[in-house]
Amino acid sequence: MNSLLPRLAVLTLSASIAALLPCPPASALALDAKTKAAARQEFRKSAARPCLAAQPCFKVRNTFPKQAKAEALPWRDIDYRTAPESYLRAVLAYIVEGNTAVDWQLHKNRKRDWYHAAWMHPVREPIHGLTFERGSRLHELSAVQTRRTNNWAIGFYNRQGATAFARVWRERSQPDTAAFAFPEGTVSAKLLFTDATDEEAPYLAGNNLAWQADIRGNGQPVTLRLLQVDVAIKNAPRDGLNGWVFGTFYFDGRGGHADYWDNLVPAGLEWGTSPTFTRADFAAGQRPPQGWVNPVAEALFATRAPDGKLGYLGRMNGPVDDPRSSCLACHSRAMDMQGASDPPLFPPFAASRIRQVSAAPNQTYETVLAAGPVDEAQVALFFRNLAPGESFDGTHPALDYSLQLAKGVELWRAWLDRRLAAAVPQPIAPEALAAPAGGGRGN
Ligand code: HEC
Repeated sequence: MNSLLPRLAVLTLSASIAALLPCPPASALALDAKTKAAARQEFRKSAARPCLAAQPCFKVRNTFPKQAKAEALPWRDIDYRTAPESYLRAVLAYIVEGNTAVDWQLHKNRKRDWYHAAWMHPVREPIHGLTFERGSRLHELSAVQTRRTNNWAIGFYNRQGATAFARVWRERSQPDTAAFAFPEGTVSAKLLFTDATDEEAPYLAGNNLAWQADIRGNGQPVTLRLLQVDVAIKNAPRDGLNGWVFGTFYFDGRGGHADYWDNLVPAGLEWGTSPTFTRADFAAGQRPPQGWVNPVAEALFATRAPDGKLGYLGRMNGPVDDPRSSCLACHSRAMDMQGASDPPLFPPFAASRIRQVSAAPNQTYETVLAAGPVDEAQVALFFRNLAPGESFDGTHPALDYSLQLAKGVELWRAWLDRRLAAAVPQPIAPEALAAPAGGGRGN
């Protein structure tokens, strides 16, 4: 795999020029006392804008514990390869316990400790703390869905996972991302909501979870309904894989259950990215070996372009997610970019021969194999099974598949950069007058 890294560096070169400039890790930056105090204050914030009258008020829970507690993990003895549905249902039961009774206000859960990722407040709306997700393109939700619908989400980590956040954010004013890893037993979950109507996604009707959210930022909330629930579980690494299992559920009210969480149907799970699986394999009718996709889900979302599958060449992905990727593939990109641009999300058209196109009134994807052969080596760079601690681009610190941790650290750095840039005119040392304003930070 290491021999592929120089090629990846070429691929991402234009996006990561900034990474070549000297940029110290966050923990090495010397912040003055005032900046540290301001950063600690920011850390405690829940959302970008103030709460609204007569609406719930989202309260972030980021008082991360240093120690995990011993607890029974009911899925531990279930083999996700041979019994993926039972495995997923055991995980879901653990996640909903104590949370549904308090409408996912984590600090009120009396059953179990859950925490939000730190420093996502600049992108959270104030009612439920939701953040903007990828919109659903033409026909991704059903054959009659043509409008690009809006999706918003919130994620959280169990106590084990939160101990890893405690280490990164031990100093609340500046994160330390060196040698990061989550402990075994970490569980993360994410609820994804949509503004799709019954016409656009008929399976959303029924006893669903409906939340108000200020997604337009104008103080006039809209109603969103639960569409997808993502889960990520960290087991002990085995068989050369890193231990993560990523799975997802979609809501189907036609099940008719009285409790909305019983209407969640397993869509599939992935324990590896199936790195050697090629387009020729797919065309021959094979399916990626390191995952399971529920055939019922695949049939329900069969109108997704470019090939009616949830993820790339039939890999596991959620209905809300980009069909050119897969859960683990996208999450393997989690790094502390230290001010540089994120790596690309999926292989370029020149490699995969799949591109996004406008098809009024929305967008979709098409495969253009006539444009030339698929470059399997290039594509494979996006579908690797990275070892624990292995960085996607070989340069930036790996964040063990947590894109929320990555996002929080990125938002912290953006805040710091703005603050330092704004402060530049204040101390006017004679030699500083010769330098361009804001110059010299390297990012
Ligand atoms: C194309 C990229 C992409 C794909 C594909 C993707 N995710 Fe994510 N996911 C993200 C980003 C970005 C975040 C962090 C920001 C946020 O939560 O909105 C995230 C957050 C999460 C979280 C919260 C914890 C964390 O790791 O950050 C979970 C759990 C999660 N995703 C599970 C899944 C599952 C399960 C799938 C497949 C069904 C999936 N994701 C597919 C991009 C992706």
